[in-house]
Amino acid sequence: MTPKKKISKLIKKPLTQKKGIMKDMEPKPQEKLVALPKGNLKEVRLVRGMKDIMPEDEKYWRHIYRTAESLADTAYFERIETPIMEYTPIFSRAVGENTDIVEKEMFSFTDRGGDDVTLRPEGTAGVVRAYVEHGMINRPQPVKLWYFGPFFRYDRPQSGRQRQFYQFGCEVIGDSHPVIDAQMIAMASEFFKRLGLPVTLQVNSIGDKESRVAYGRALMDFLKPHRHKIDKELLEHYKKTPLRLLDVKDEELQLILDNAPQIVDYLTPQANQHFVKVLEHLDELDVSYQLNSKIVRGLDYYSHTTFEVMPDGADKKLHALGGGGRYDKLVELFGGREDIGACGFALGIERIITLMKEMNLPVPERKPPEVFLAQLGDKARQKAIKILHELQRAGFHVAETFSKEALKSQMEIANRLHVTFTLIIGQKEMIDDTVLIRDMENGIQEVVDSRKIVAELRKRIGGTNGEHH
Ligand code: HAM
Repeated sequence: MTPKKKISKLIKKPLTQKKGIMKDMEPKPQEKLVALPKGNLKEVRLVRGMKDIMPEDEKYWRHIYRTAESLADTAYFERIETPIMEYTPIFSRAVGENTDIVEKEMFSFTDRGGDDVTLRPEGTAGVVRAYVEHGMINRPQPVKLWYFGPFFRYDRPQSGRQRQFYQFGCEVIGDSHPVIDAQMIAMASEFFKRLGLPVTLQVNSIGDKESRVAYGRALMDFLKPHRHKIDKELLEHYKKTPLRLLDVKDEELQLILDNAPQIVDYLTPQANQHFVKVLEHLDELDVSYQLNSKIVRGLDYYSHTTFEVMPDGADKKLHALGGGGRYDKLVELFGGREDIGACGFALGIERIITLMKEMNLPVPERKPPEVFLAQLGDKARQKAIKILHELQRAGFHVAETFSKEALKSQMEIANRLHVTFTLIIGQKEMIDDTVLIRDMENGIQEVVDSRKIVAELRKRIGGTNGEHH
């Protein structure tokens, strides 16, 4: 019997390391190989809240990635890839100590060197860190960046919430003009148009700090007579950030807040002017949107424009497909110049795919292989391997099952794969240095000189399906 010890217990802990500036220079203690229990592993399964992306879903991922890439390319955004791990304060400072993400949802741990690190719960903080760290201020401004990758939040797993999920994000850093806000909203809207998903963009402004302080006071005043109906702890918790109450998922509180004063009425003249300009630009760009004074966003770094993308026909329970806004103080918070305005958004890929499936939206299917290579006998197989590489180098999509001996079973697979042509190399073809080419649609077979096979296939496939040739 295998002892029922947890694997983690069997991993030998490294010796404790000293903390200090020199810690990276010290020789690392020798790590013992992980001792796995003998016998079969019983707990072979996914970590809770994480998901495999299986080949059957690949068509969605590819289509969405390509749509994102072409949208970003045509708007001349540059791709940036920041690590999935950052020092914890990058997120706790940027997203804010008093937010759900930082309080409850971060995958944080102390690494073996004693540093506090966190798996990124969102992309903006890392991108701004990179902007400051690489002196991107010295490039032509604004800098326009996009990313696509995994993010991690220790949320309660449920529909629309995973612990690892993907985002497509775009950030424009180094420009405070309201036209940028409108362009980012338009860009998010365009992305969903290209996917064929009907969405509504909900837009709001949370103004500058002065506007928020004035509004926070008004909101607390409004809530005073309702205090007995609201959870005391909740009120205490959000005492310093009352705007966040608008984002709390509590139906009773939200009903009360439906009649609350609206932040747009508390904007300073400058903040108001910024917002009016954003809306004017949106009208010029012909982007349809809804004003929603409750869009305050769950992250601290925002100022002025905030927005969220909601699927159409959405009742309140449906999750946002994406969100974003302006974050003018983040570069400064990370030690950059104080006047660097920025704006961006991020969209949740899994939620988009779920909706695309629900709506049965068509996505391009992967093309079947163009050629199947069949062979008979050891010698023919050797020759087939050579031809396979030649064809692949020429850019053809080629399938084969070289380990199979019988031609019949090879042809069955070729049929199942819906290939256009099958190449057959048997004993006779070996002797003649030829290949039999079979058109799978009409069954017509022809003998071709094996040195001319690439040219022959180009002639037959190149014109119609020849993106690679
Ligand atoms: P966010 O609203 O926290 O914004 O996330 C953006 C989107 O990521 C959400 O609307 C949702 O579609 C998806 N998402 C978030 N959490 C999960 C989860 N647990 N499971 C599945 N999908 C999820 C941000 O992250 C900001 N960085 C957006 C931004 C960019 N603002 C300015 N620039």
